[in-house]
Amino acid sequence: MCFANKGFKVTGIDIDSEKVKLINMGKSPFREPGLDELLMKALGKRLLHCTTNQEHALEKSGVSFITVGTPSLPDGSIDLDFVGAASQSIGEALKKMNKYHVVVVKSTVTPGTTEKVVKPIVEERSGKHCGSEFGLCVNPEFLKEGSAIHDMLNPDRIVIGEYDKRSGESLEKFYKDFYGESMPPIIRTNLTNSELIKYANNAFLATKISFINTIANICERLRGADVKVVAKSIGLDNRVSPFFLNAGLGYGGSCFPKDTKALIAFSKSLGYMPELVEAVTKVNEAQPFKAVDLAEKLIGNLKNKRIAILGLSFKPNTDDLRNAPSLKIVNFLLKKEAKIIAYDPKAMDNAKKIFGVKIEYASSAIKCIKGADCCIIITEWDVFRKLKPGDFIKHMKKPCIIDGRRIYNTAAFLDDTKFMAIGL
Ligand code: UDX
Repeated sequence: MCFANKGFKVTGIDIDSEKVKLINMGKSPFREPGLDELLMKALGKRLLHCTTNQEHALEKSGVSFITVGTPSLPDGSIDLDFVGAASQSIGEALKKMNKYHVVVVKSTVTPGTTEKVVKPIVEERSGKHCGSEFGLCVNPEFLKEGSAIHDMLNPDRIVIGEYDKRSGESLEKFYKDFYGESMPPIIRTNLTNSELIKYANNAFLATKISFINTIANICERLRGADVKVVAKSIGLDNRVSPFFLNAGLGYGGSCFPKDTKALIAFSKSLGYMPELVEAVTKVNEAQPFKAVDLAEKLIGNLKNKRIAILGLSFKPNTDDLRNAPSLKIVNFLLKKEAKIIAYDPKAMDNAKKIFGVKIEYASSAIKCIKGADCCIIITEWDVFRKLKPGDFIKHMKKPCIIDGRRIYNTAAFLDDTKFMAIGL
């Protein structure tokens, strides 16, 4: 959508004809702030069109980006089926083309995949040679859900892994045209480094989160300790930086859990056990259950207690529930025979598909906490930040609150309510 809105002619290709139809009608198949507006603009200017016909689409283009999913196999390693299928389609289409074309792997793939999987498939299917007849690059993205458009338009850097100089030059030129004056720093390197950069980046950020959650767990056992104060202070050290130091109920989403596991499996396949990354995932797997521990500490046995859940998506500003800590928390509460009512500003439809009639759904935060014995904040949506102790006192059976994301003013809540929070 961003490419199209900067004037590039973009064709989106998918094997899912329903998705293709939806996008061509101006309907985004998922929620992302600002996306619908960009979609309407791009369609209006006729700069974007989606199709299931890859051959026709590729014929007219100079660069193709492979952006398919790379899910986890049961052992945590990467499933490259979609990357393989996309490479086949591109190869078939290239066979009929007689101009230079650059194939760019944007999907997150383990080191070696582009050289050992994508290149041979495209070469075999197209009958062409990589380098002389088509170009090949790896170009990881670092955008976050919920701020994807902003991140795409203002990246910290562009990483280009190149099979050869010509491939890299072509992609660099493309980005220079796209970013113009505001061209970010560019790293040109080989395919392997750029594949590893994406995993190292995600694993490092996941490490920061599990690190601060570890400090939070220590704080909870220390009278007077508060992880927020500790994080703020260490974040001011330039070498640490303040970002991704928010303690909470653990990281979720489609990337960190999957990519840390894939890095572990990949590293093991090289004969090295990455113990640090293993510890990071272990800390994260336990973290959501802290919400239930704290609830039991606050109100005792949870059987038949009415628990209000505020926030289901894995982070604010998205309807995405993939690997969301809320899934573990709700299931564990159900096991404890608690009665659950939940509210999320955007993820309700997705939640209904997962939990069905096992839980109740509210149409607002206030309706959710009404009559509840305990309220757990799982996702830090802005609307929840605005709730005051008085709101909980007025509407809940008893104002018992677990702040799983540290969004509330501790002193005010401790004064007026029964309040517990991660890292406090
Ligand atoms: C992540 C990376 O940030 C991005 O660079 C990559 O391209 C894709 O994966 P995303 O999964 O969209 O992006 O969300 P992100 O904002 O990174 O948050 C991931 C999870 O970490 C969320 O569940 C969030 O709640 C949690 N998190 C994040 C914390 O618990 N504490 C923090 O300080 C930051």
